[in-house]
Amino acid sequence: MQAADSARADEGAALLAAARTVRERAHAPYSRFRVGAALRDEHGAIHAGCNVENAAYPVGTCAEAGAIAAMVAAGGRRITEILVCGDGAGLVTPCGACRQRIREFARPDTPIHAATPDRIAKTFTLGELLPDSFGPETLT
Ligand code: THU
Repeated sequence: MQAADSARADEGAALLAAARTVRERAHAPYSRFRVGAALRDEHGAIHAGCNVENAAYPVGTCAEAGAIAAMVAAGGRRITEILVCGDGAGLVTPCGACRQRIREFARPDTPIHAATPDRIAKTFTLGELLPDSFGPETLT
């Protein structure tokens, strides 16, 4: 493995570890589908969040929303990489609303990893998951 590949693998492993840990703390008594998200900001710091459901179902929040809120609260303003971790038969990719939430702080080439608790299953770019999107520049 080349040095750059190895560094990328380490970075992916750190995001996966953070998402796996926070996923254990998810509050998902209704769906029983626990999700963890971890992102890296422009300073290299990792921020994580889990889904927090509510008895009033629509009020529940996604893991990505928690991770983004943690980043903003810590002073980060750019997502350089994000990973979503869930367990199930299919790939766990960000829902439509979360793709737009990520869009606010990321670029079309920002990697989005879909992971199980064990491994990164597939990596997309934001542009692949949300093409021709509406973002902050649209308003300027
Ligand atoms: N969920 C997330 O946390 N992120 C996503 O991108 C997809 C869905 C959560 C919301 C809800 O608590 C559970 O997964 C089932 O939809």
